[in-house]
Amino acid sequence: MTNDFVIETKNLSRLYGKFIAVDNLNLQIAEGEIFGLLGPNGAGKTTSILMIMGLSEPTSGTVRVCGYNPAREPIKVKRVAGYLPEKVGFYDDLTARENLEYTGRLNGFQDKVIAAKITEVLEKVGLSSVSDQLVGKYSHGMKQRLGIADVMIKSPKIAVFDEPTSGIDPEGTEQVLSIIKDMAKQKVTVLISSHQLHQIQKICTQVGIFSKGKLVASGSVEKLGREAFRKGKFNIILPISQPTDKLLENIKSIDGVVDINCVHDATVITASEDVSKEVENAVASTTGLKVQMKVEEFELEKVYMEYFKES
Ligand SMILES: Nc1ncnc2c1ncn2[C@@H]1O[C@H](COP(=O)(O)OP(=O)(O)O)[C@@H](O)[C@H]1O
Ligand SMILES: [Mg+2]
Repeated sequence: MTNDFVIETKNLSRLYGKFIAVDNLNLQIAEGEIFGLLGPNGAGKTTSILMIMGLSEPTSGTVRVCGYNPAREPIKVKRVAGYLPEKVGFYDDLTARENLEYTGRLNGFQDKVIAAKITEVLEKVGLSSVSDQLVGKYSHGMKQRLGIADVMIKSPKIAVFDEPTSGIDPEGTEQVLSIIKDMAKQKVTVLISSHQLHQIQKICTQVGIFSKGKLVASGSVEKLGREAFRKGKFNIILPISQPTDKLLENIKSIDGVVDINCVHDATVITASEDVSKEVENAVASTTGLKVQMKVEEFELEKVYMEYFKES
């Protein structure tokens, strides 16, 4: 294995009896990436994460985390990688600060260092003003943010979040994602699992789509879009059902247009960028008409649906 990737799995598999929960997973995550492990419930995301963290043994295959093998060197992995499980466990009868003190001590930090770190991380996750409240009184979103603070305490090189936005309201979700994005800016490599695509695609630099234990596609959101559609990123829907040859020719000559399809009541122009203004001009100069058109930008959700149609 090379040292180019901070997280790398090779033919990683996990069986439960005869059931294959993770099937030959090959994952390569480079430093500084925010990698989204996406897939529906039961796809094998948590099982993969547990093996990456050294909390569950692979049936076959290997994992490397910063060059360490989590199955053999779990302590070294824990030193470099922070992990927020799907269900965060805090002491409800302790305050946020007390909970983090506990984590700090578990990680062998001195009390003085811990106090300063806690102040810093609570600030980062926006919980400074409620740091002395009992965690039992926290909302789900606040607990997730405290969970991220808990990961931050040990200044990890890698942060692994399992469904960090699950069950949180939209505002809380935005907060969680923006905190994770800020973390990545500090050169922390992030692995984030989710079955909620909409939110995740905004912050991920790379994604892997997981289905029934298998990674069915991976790469940048853009790359997946191209692979799924083999076309452009934008669809411009022109409400003209029978365009003249002259108009088609003019549209074809616009830079970025890759395909034109006439559907029953419209002409759909696929392009690598939003060329609606140019199309509007072409229509005006050819027909003298001013038309309203719809522009669809491709989204990860559509890619995801595209892959899942086949699985
Ligand atoms: N300890 C276990 N024993 C048996 N089956 C399990 C166990 N853990 C997970 N599974 C099964 O493995 C599959 C993948 O689970 P999981 O990794 O939790 O998926 P995800 O996190 O993507 O929802 C599921 O079908 C689940 O029921
Ligand atoms: Mg899971």
